[in-house]
Amino acid sequence: MEVESANCKVRVSQCDDLDMLAVERPLKIDIEINGLEMLVQELHNVFSRDHVNVQDVQKLMAAYKSEPKDWKKYAKFDRFRYTRNLVDAGNGAFNIMVLCWGPGHASAIHDHADSHCFMKILSGSLEEVRYEWPNNVEPEVLKKLKTKNSCCSANEIATDDRTSDLIYNCQNDTCPNFRGKSDSMEHSEQDGDQDYDANKMEEIGRTALEVNDVCYINDALGLHRMENPSYVDGAVSLHLYCPPFDSCRMFDARTGKPTDIKVTFWSMYGKKVKRVIEANDIVDSQE
Ligand code: SIN
Repeated sequence: MEVESANCKVRVSQCDDLDMLAVERPLKIDIEINGLEMLVQELHNVFSRDHVNVQDVQKLMAAYKSEPKDWKKYAKFDRFRYTRNLVDAGNGAFNIMVLCWGPGHASAIHDHADSHCFMKILSGSLEEVRYEWPNNVEPEVLKKLKTKNSCCSANEIATDDRTSDLIYNCQNDTCPNFRGKSDSMEHSEQDGDQDYDANKMEEIGRTALEVNDVCYINDALGLHRMENPSYVDGAVSLHLYCPPFDSCRMFDARTGKPTDIKVTFWSMYGKKVKRVIEANDIVDSQE
């Protein structure tokens, strides 16, 4: 399977060929997108199909050239934290949003809840810092990659309702995924601190992103955080998540400890939403 065929209509762990999802080569942009409205319309067209190619979404995002007049109604800044402003809910297939970063604002290290994440810089610049998954936390995608050629391959056990428990804990004691006789609670990531092996998280790369740059990440490629490196200028970025998610995990950089968090919007369709304070919003910069 070619990378062009990787389907971002489904969760990353359900993509047929996970290893092919890292698209790094320069994209050939052969389409013209005139304005953000047209981009959203084209995304609706593409996502109305059953199969949506990762690379086609990247191309659409790259073909749109940022014009502040297109997105300024969504660009709502807060003094203390970056904001998430919903532009379109993509008929349930994707969420596209404008994120506004004040000077020095940053997100915490987070995963993408088994979804695909596309990002484009609309104004200013951001730095993306990528991390390895901590040893003690295993995402769905890595479980699937690991089990691909083993006796408990995802295909064999996908018919069972308790798929993820079974993938984690194959009952064949010769299998590398055997972790003792089944007791799903025993192997839960949420066990608290008893399984907890604290290690500083490993940085695997940094990329400076400038206006109109597009990048893509999913859980198979690691974790990341974004940061506005400027002490004086704001930055604005456009993010597309598919399938959409409303919770994910953030990670403590010093220990790798995960925490489930809900993600919220600062505004929706250009209108500020009543603020719900979430103790664990994925923000770590308050300056
Ligand atoms: C990011 O750092 O990629 C943004 C996270 C978010 O969607 O809030």
